Amino acid sequence: MEIGFRDIEPEDAHLIARWKNDPYIKKMALDPADEITVEKEMKDIERAMDEGLYLMVQLDGEDIGYVRVNWVYGKGKIAWLRFALGERRGEGYGVEMIQKISEYLFEMGCVRIEAEVYSENIPSQKVLEKNGFVKEGTKRKAYFDGDKYADVYVYGKVG
Ligand SMILES: CC(C)(COP(=O)(O)OP(=O)(O)OC[C@H]1O[C@@H](n2cnc3c(N)ncnc32)[C@H](O)[C@@H]1OP(=O)(O)O)[C@@H](O)C(=O)NCCC(=O)NCCS
Repeated sequence: MEIGFRDIEPEDAHLIARWKNDPYIKKMALDPADEITVEKEMKDIERAMDEGLYLMVQLDGEDIGYVRVNWVYGKGKIAWLRFALGERRGEGYGVEMIQKISEYLFEMGCVRIEAEVYSENIPSQKVLEKNGFVKEGTKRKAYFDGDKYADVYVYGKVG
């Protein structure tokens, strides 16, 4: 079984919206207060095409998740990474997904990849650490999880 990527197209908005409406993904990776609709996701996909990379993660051709890259500083140099797996979570594919996207970004000339992770999101922290990302700092009480303000960890990897 091999992880690959393809560009996300506007027609993928239904699938992306379904994943982003999953209460687990909402809690771990998004703003729980955000309303996710297919229309909004379609606009977001169109915008993302100009801003960076928005890739469908595939497992032997099956769509299983997404990876989003925004350029923080200098196009193609410092990447801000966001990602999620849909129904195929818990099977260990996250490590390979982050390994492959990191390799790709460094090969294309990126000097740094960063990610921000909610403090309660242990699977994401593990996946990043297994890929050599370093926990560089803590933004204290930096997001509202629906009940309380909680910390956000900043992870980084340099090429
Ligand atoms: C982050 C994510 C992509 C990882 O996916 P995955 O590869 O399927 O992750 P797994 O469930 O295999 O878990 C990864 C590791 O965390 C461990 N883990 C999972 N839940 C855990 C918990 N509650 N406590 C401790 N460890 C936990 C797993 O045992 C696994 O460890 P191992 O590799 O040593 O076996 C996936 O959880 C996801 O899509 N989450 C929702 C979106 C999200 O959080 N995105 C990241 C935002 S920064």
